[in-house]
This record gives sequence, structure tokens and C-alpha cells, in this order.
Amino acid sequence: MVKIFKLKNIISIKDFEREDIEYILDEASKLEDIAQSKAISDELKGKVLGLMFFEPSTRTRISFETAMKRFNGQCIGFASSDSSSVSKGESIADTAKMFEAYSDALVIRHELEGVSKFISDLVDVPVINAGDGAGQHPTQTLLDLYTIRDEIGSIDNLNIALIGDLKFGRTVHSLAQSLTLFNNIKIYLVSPPELRMPQEILHDLNKTNVEYVEVDNIEDIIDDVDVLYVTRIQKERFVDIDDYLKIKGAYIINKKMLEGKDLIVMHPLPRIDEIAGDVDDTKYNKYFKQAANAVPVRMAILKTLIKNNPK
Ligand code: CP
Repeated sequence: MVKIFKLKNIISIKDFEREDIEYILDEASKLEDIAQSKAISDELKGKVLGLMFFEPSTRTRISFETAMKRFNGQCIGFASSDSSSVSKGESIADTAKMFEAYSDALVIRHELEGVSKFISDLVDVPVINAGDGAGQHPTQTLLDLYTIRDEIGSIDNLNIALIGDLKFGRTVHSLAQSLTLFNNIKIYLVSPPELRMPQEILHDLNKTNVEYVEVDNIEDIIDDVDVLYVTRIQKERFVDIDDYLKIKGAYIINKKMLEGKDLIVMHPLPRIDEIAGDVDDTKYNKYFKQAANAVPVRMAILKTLIKNNPK
């Protein structure tokens, strides 16, 4: 049976069914050689990707650019509001209409939840949410799932700990929701009380067979997990800096804690201090591989959306 990918836009992981996720992961696997520059491709030659980054980014923006360039396509755009006419008062809607005219697909990061959805309702080209405030980061989730499948062999039958800032961390919101599509999943939600997973995500988990437990300490669960998914405390989302300083450094993973354990350590990055440098040279470190996996996964996304939705 020929598989098809139904989505035109990638706004929320909640829009995905399991078969949509598997489609992108399978496509990404096929693109590894091109992603690693062992083969060349003109798949998106002549196509232009518009990058609208109102918030800072290293991995997401650069990996989308790399993905496009590996296909011999091109990128336009800005990496901060300051370098666009938004800084002169132009609306996001007008800015998006310009990008629609100039490009074949848009990638948008913004500090406000819902901006990518708002733009997707205005333009005819595919829109990809590259992170909207404390909302969603669906393409990060796709590369996280790709990494888990690659490293562990399956996403089913997984015990995973999501650690750190579960309140503001958009990557853990999307990842937790995606795991509802898989079988026999147990999620440990490890955070300070102030940074617990939002109720609406717990509500989504409650509607499924996913088992979850909220805990304070990593030590209580470390022997029972396949994946430690560590996140940074999102300093920029705190209204009062003193609240941030009180919980900064609440969880730090180091090499000694991991010795003898059968697990992998992931992190969407950037890391501040939550994974000690001594973990980098161990077998547990999969966070740099995870970041590298962004290229084949985002290549699969771009190829699929741009080919399925020609201008
Ligand atoms: N993981 C991630 O979104 O990283 P950037 O903020 O650097 O894009």
C-alpha cells in the first residue's frame, strides 16, 4: 500500500496520527546518506524556504537551513525581530504575506503560543511551527522520536523520564502528547512543584493508556527508565527572576549517577548546567546525536510538505 502524508502544515503534534509520525521517521531514515553528505540530491532545487525566527535559535534554524541546502534548495529570512520590519511596526500578518510571496514553505518561531496557527490560516504555502512560546515544538518531537527509535529500536514499551521545566518547556509538551500514540508507555514527570506539567497535557494523557507519575527526585526513578529526557529551566519565561533563581540547578545529571544504568540521556538543547560535562564522553550521551538527527528529519518534513503542496 502506498503511504500518504495528510498534513499540509505542522503546527501541533496533536494533529498527527501514529502513521503520520512513522511516515516522517521512515522518510528520514532513507535520507541519512544525503543528510550526511555521502550522496547528493536536487530534490528541492529551485525551491525557497522562508525562515521567520522572532525568537533566538541555533539548532532549529540552522538544521532547517542545512536540510534545505542538502536538497539544493535555498533559504531566506530573519533570525530576530530586530532584523525585520516588524521592528518598525509592521504586523506579523503582513510579514507572513510577504514570505508567502517569496517562498514555498514557512518555518516560524515566536514567543507567543498560536502564532504559527494564525499564520497558517492566512497563507497558502505550508507552515511549520518551530516553537511557539511555551506551547509546542512538533518538529523537535519528530527528531526526538527518531532518536529513540534509532537508539532503542522501538518507541513502544518505553519508560521515559521528562525532567526539568515541564511547565514552560514546549519540547516536553509535544513529546508527552506524541507518546499517547504508542503502546505500553510509562512517563515519569520529574520537576520542582512550581514547574509541573500543565493540566491540559495531563488531561490529554488521562484520556489514553499512557501511565504517568509526577515525582520530585530523579533518584527515585532512575533504575526504571530507558530514557532520561532532560530539559533546561526556561529562564526567559519567568516574570520574576527571583522565582527562577530559587529553582535554577534543581536537577543536574552527572556521570556518577548514570554508572551501571541501562538508559540513554537526551536533551533538546541548549543545555545550561543540567547535564554535567562529564556525561559527554560516556555511552549515555545521545543529545549530540539527537541534534544531528534534526537534519534528516527536517529534510523529510520539507521534502514531504513542499512536494505535496506545490505553489
Ligand atoms: N532544540 C531547540 O529548539 O534548539 P534551538 O532553540 O537552538 O533551536
